[in-house]
Amino acid sequence: MSDKNFKRYTITSALPYANGPVHIGHLAGVYVPADIYARYLRLRGNDVAFICGSDEHGVAITLKARKEGKTPQQVVDQYHEQIKTSFEKFGISFDIYSRTTSKTHHETASEYFQKLYENGKFLEQSSEQFFDPKENQFLADRYIKGTCPTCSFPEAYGDQCESCGSTLSPSELINPKSMLSGEAPVLKATKHWYFPLDQYEDWLRKWILEDHKEWKPNVAGQCKSWLDGGLKPRPMTRDLDWGIPVPVEGAEGKVLYVWFDAPIGYISATKDWAAATGKDWEPYWKSDDTKLVHFIGKDNIVFHCIIFPALLKADGGYIFPENVPANEFLNLESNKISTSRNWAVWLHEYLEEFPDKQDVLRYVLTANAPETKDNDFTWKDFQTRNNSELVAIFGNFVNRAVVLTHKFFEGTVPMKNELQPIDEAVLVDVKAGIKSIEASLEQYKFREALSQLMDVARSGNKYLAETEPWKLIKEDKERVATIMNIALQISSTLSIIAEPFLPFTSGKLKEMLCLENADWKLAGESDLLKEGQEIGKAALLFEKIEDSAVEAQVQKLMDTKKANEAEAEGSKVVPAKEVVNFEEFMKMDLRVGEIKTAEAVPKSNKLLKFTVDTGLDQRTIVSGIAKHFTAEEMIGKKVLVMSNLAPRKIMGIESQGMLLFAENEDGSLKAVSPGSDAQNGATVA
Ligand code: MF3
Ligand code: ZN
Repeated sequence: MSDKNFKRYTITSALPYANGPVHIGHLAGVYVPADIYARYLRLRGNDVAFICGSDEHGVAITLKARKEGKTPQQVVDQYHEQIKTSFEKFGISFDIYSRTTSKTHHETASEYFQKLYENGKFLEQSSEQFFDPKENQFLADRYIKGTCPTCSFPEAYGDQCESCGSTLSPSELINPKSMLSGEAPVLKATKHWYFPLDQYEDWLRKWILEDHKEWKPNVAGQCKSWLDGGLKPRPMTRDLDWGIPVPVEGAEGKVLYVWFDAPIGYISATKDWAAATGKDWEPYWKSDDTKLVHFIGKDNIVFHCIIFPALLKADGGYIFPENVPANEFLNLESNKISTSRNWAVWLHEYLEEFPDKQDVLRYVLTANAPETKDNDFTWKDFQTRNNSELVAIFGNFVNRAVVLTHKFFEGTVPMKNELQPIDEAVLVDVKAGIKSIEASLEQYKFREALSQLMDVARSGNKYLAETEPWKLIKEDKERVATIMNIALQISSTLSIIAEPFLPFTSGKLKEMLCLENADWKLAGESDLLKEGQEIGKAALLFEKIEDSAVEAQVQKLMDTKKANEAEAEGSKVVPAKEVVNFEEFMKMDLRVGEIKTAEAVPKSNKLLKFTVDTGLDQRTIVSGIAKHFTAEEMIGKKVLVMSNLAPRKIMGIESQGMLLFAENEDGSLKAVSPGSDAQNGATVA
């Protein structure tokens, strides 16, 4: 179907996990391009539903909750609000920003599953999964840690080794341990509902590779490699205690797989939006004359191009995406953006550090968007693009147009006289520019569209530089009137066509020009502002960003890097042991003892044998510290004794307890010694 025949647009952008704040990578990859597209369509008078919300289920959330010592609900409540606010402040013009813990969503996803279930679209299969017998829980891959079979890193996760990057499955880990109890997990049979993706393979192949040859090569390429690899049934349920309960008998304690419910979140959010605005949600998802487009990052391709469409197909009542213009990743100062290493520019921090500069970031992220390959964000580039593009071209042109109109014509739009070739030429240029922006946007080429927008501003700048109204004013005011009129019309056009990209700037500029009618279709007209109409005072649209501001940002990143390095150093420190409860702790009998006698153990160069006065008794304790201390220097020392440790025979001598020492990183020992005034037998708790 050609674009002209679409009656409405459903534009979705990936639902971010509510397990942390959003950063420039999210904005550049998904939300800014989606927003440009949605704003552009609205400006052209289309019926648009621009949908998003927080993804609040799955292991990403439960892990974060565990780490922060909170409930999953507390985690999602906190980050949902923060993410929503950041998007609002950046002018991301969602029609609704919903969340997957909403009632509508739980019902919608549950019913969706139930319908597929009743129509026999799932396979019921039992398989052996890792289970924590102590916690009586099945373990998601991320909840299992062990030694990486590839690089021997001892802290690899069940799905991935963060040291060497290998993709793993928990059964490959050497010495796997449950992160919940620390115990070795056991295999246990569990039943799940599998979606037979293989049955949709032929349909997917045709739909993607033949019917949608216009999809971006990075997207088509990933799809093809999934399809060529052969699709397999995928479980759509999980053993987890956070999520949407599986609405099927015999599925107690199981929830829907997060990648089953999350995309349905687009539908639920549309329902809530429609209900709030008195619309019918169904055409937005079920009508052939609706164009559905998913904006996502490249890690989401398989879910949006293969799994979700197959689920829509299985239902049978829904339309399919016309396009999935997925982006690659944005790096930051040559390093991968990483939440855990705090290598990111967080939106909430940017908003505080660069107040009222949302458009600058939107501009830089679009100009440098990772559309066809991974790209790098640098603060230097941020500064340069602001100073030599936004300030020097866009801002400078508009400023001259407005300031000179005030200077020569008391702030009213002067009358146009007969046009000269240079006037005609610039107007033609501007119109052609608009056409190319439209063509680029319709192909999801946002960088190109932005650079064409700047070309329009450049044409305006060049026009003023060549006509030099400031020189001409003394000899030919009539000619200057024409020039300023045209400069103002071009400024007005800029205020319209900049709206999708730079909404804040566009708003300021329209106000400055007192432009009322700002429909996209009017852009390029030469009478957007009427002769004799007043315009407002010049206000600066952009200001120079000083070296000190970007240096401070680079410094902040360098500090992060140092902190990360220090932490990596520190990981030589013995990792913390698992938590013991109070009862367990109270079982230990720690008390002050005094060393009465000390002697080397024959035939051992490690062991010393002590008689220790524990207040309870005089007992024998053997300790492996001969390399660190002589027998003589230990006599008379107060030491801390673990006195109820089960007796052990060491080289034939029964040791009745343990002396406590602190071991430094270099292996040297220090006795954990109470002050000399502590009484023998004083208990420690
Ligand atoms: N939360 C996912 C992510 O951040 C994206 C979910 S998109 C949806 O990778 F389609 F599932 F909603
Ligand atoms: Zn590894």
